[in-house]
Amino acid sequence: MYTEKVMDHFEHPRNVGEIENASGIGTVGNAKCGDIMRMYLDIDENQIIRDVKFKTYGCGAAVATSSMATELVKGKSIQEAMKITNRAVMEALDGLPPVKVHCSLLAEEAIHAALWDYAEKQGIEIEGLKKPKSDIHEDEEEEEEY
Ligand code: FES
Repeated sequence: MYTEKVMDHFEHPRNVGEIENASGIGTVGNAKCGDIMRMYLDIDENQIIRDVKFKTYGCGAAVATSSMATELVKGKSIQEAMKITNRAVMEALDGLPPVKVHCSLLAEEAIHAALWDYAEKQGIEIEGLKKPKSDIHEDEEEEEEY
C-alpha cells in the first residue's frame, strides 16, 4: 500500500537528528494519534535554509513525509519553503494511502512552526505565515471532506 519512495524514506530517513543553536525549532503534534514531530532549521543571513533536521515519534508515513519535506526545504529560501505544502511532499513520494494523508500535515506544520520561531527570534514577519497550531488534529475534519 506504500510506494517505493515512501518505503525508502521510512527505512532510511534523511536528516534525522537535532541542530544545536538552531535558528528555528517547531514542534507539532496530533492529539488523535499521539504522534509528535520536531523540526530544526539552520537559516543563514540571506534567509536560506542551510540545514534542517527532524525528530519524530510518529508513524511510518509521518517519518517518510518529514524526511522528504526536509529534502525539499534544504537549500531553499524561506519564501520557497513556505510554498512547500503537504501535497507537494506527497507528490514527491508518489502518493500516500488516503488514510495516511493527515500524517503529511505534521511535516508541513512543523516547518511552519520552525519558521515562526525563527521569525520571532529575528523580530521579522514572513509573508503568508500564520501562527502555527501546536496540534493539527483540528484540521483533520476539513481534510476528510476532500
Ligand atoms: Fe499519527 Fe500518522 S498516524 S502521524
